[in-house]
Amino acid sequence: MRMVDIIQRKRDGGKLTREQIYYAVEGFTRGDIPDYQMSAFAMAVFFRGMDEEEIADLTMAMVNSGDVVSLAGIRGVKVDKHSTGGVGDKTSLVVVPLVAAAGVPVAKMSGRGLGHTGGTVDKLESIRGFRIELPNEQFVRNVNENKMALVGQSGNLAPADKKLYALRDVTGTVNSIPLIASSIMSKKIASGADAIVLDVKVGSGAFMKSLDDAKALASTMVSIGKSLKRRTIAVLSDMSEPLGTEIGNANEVAEAIELLRGGGEPRLKEICLTLAAYMTVAGGAYPDVAAARRGLEELLQTGRALETFRTFVEAQGGDPAIVDDPGLLPQPAVTVSVRAEQEGYVQSIDAEAAGIAAMMLGAGREKKEDAIDYAVGLSLRKKVGDPVKFGDVLAVIRSNREQNQDIAETILRAYTIGAEKPEPVPVVHAVIE
Ligand code: URA
Repeated sequence: MRMVDIIQRKRDGGKLTREQIYYAVEGFTRGDIPDYQMSAFAMAVFFRGMDEEEIADLTMAMVNSGDVVSLAGIRGVKVDKHSTGGVGDKTSLVVVPLVAAAGVPVAKMSGRGLGHTGGTVDKLESIRGFRIELPNEQFVRNVNENKMALVGQSGNLAPADKKLYALRDVTGTVNSIPLIASSIMSKKIASGADAIVLDVKVGSGAFMKSLDDAKALASTMVSIGKSLKRRTIAVLSDMSEPLGTEIGNANEVAEAIELLRGGGEPRLKEICLTLAAYMTVAGGAYPDVAAARRGLEELLQTGRALETFRTFVEAQGGDPAIVDDPGLLPQPAVTVSVRAEQEGYVQSIDAEAAGIAAMMLGAGREKKEDAIDYAVGLSLRKKVGDPVKFGDVLAVIRSNREQNQDIAETILRAYTIGAEKPEPVPVVHAVIE
């Protein structure tokens, strides 16, 4: 077999066999197939696409390129969640303890943030002492005892995807549905869950800017999951403005705790309850989504979900006192209010611009090696649809810098204020099963 024949076949719109796909992925992972051939292959897939069978084969070839986690030591149906990435997305910090409190085990591996989107692992590391690496036996024990553990993604999970993603990033081939779908699903399947709930974000702050593209991506991932015998459900959720009020790390943990106490911003709560409802139904805790939502609301109101979170923080070496007093989390040296310069209603908040402003403060990374400042970020005081008077505080900058004028200007530009109250946009657009 020759790689050039595989590239030409895809370039001409042909269907690849399982053997051809494995040959390309295995050779590339070993280093026998050079980057230039794999880049040409990615471009051919970008233009010609792949059918469901090819996408499932590509996914499994990437799964088999590295470690496959066995969760056999954990009792019950193991359910995982994955978000395609957004700004202010702290849903895992709420959803995982909530699902665990309902008795469904979640053995989760999460990533770090890059660019304008944040990562769950960075947020958790803002808790003093918290360890995102656990020996495998302790990971399994924690899930059996408290129904949840959350660790950083292991280095050797789907290494073919890691190598291919780095090439796609610099060859204009990221935005291909077969390549995104196989990339995400390979990591989820290698992580060992029985059922997967995907949170596919749509809007200005997301990968997928239109609902049609997001639906196509979601349907592709659901079909991959089904063909590989993993129950897979995709929730399409809105990312046309940042999620919740906080963007950063420590402040997002504090917002998650507020939600686990039964409070929180309504849109954030809605997406968390929706994701948790589908996860707990897939895990067999409730007969249907309506019953799940009632049960989960009770777990929030009675403090059971918060107790699961506290036990989780303590079991992974973190200071549990932050649960009662989030003021103990890292705090910034200064806070600066950004005030409205006109009256009206908030029409939109550019999520990507807000994410970039938080990154400029040090809450995120421009490059993989960059260090994070856990204390800094943004607190949004006005969200889309809110009325605004001249001089009202739109957002508060949490900073360790002396000069914050550039950030304040970025935030002012991110807010669009107009005369009419905008029509509300639903936070959950659709669910694909
Ligand atoms: N997230 C991934 O893990 N892979 C992609 O290709 C895109 C987003």
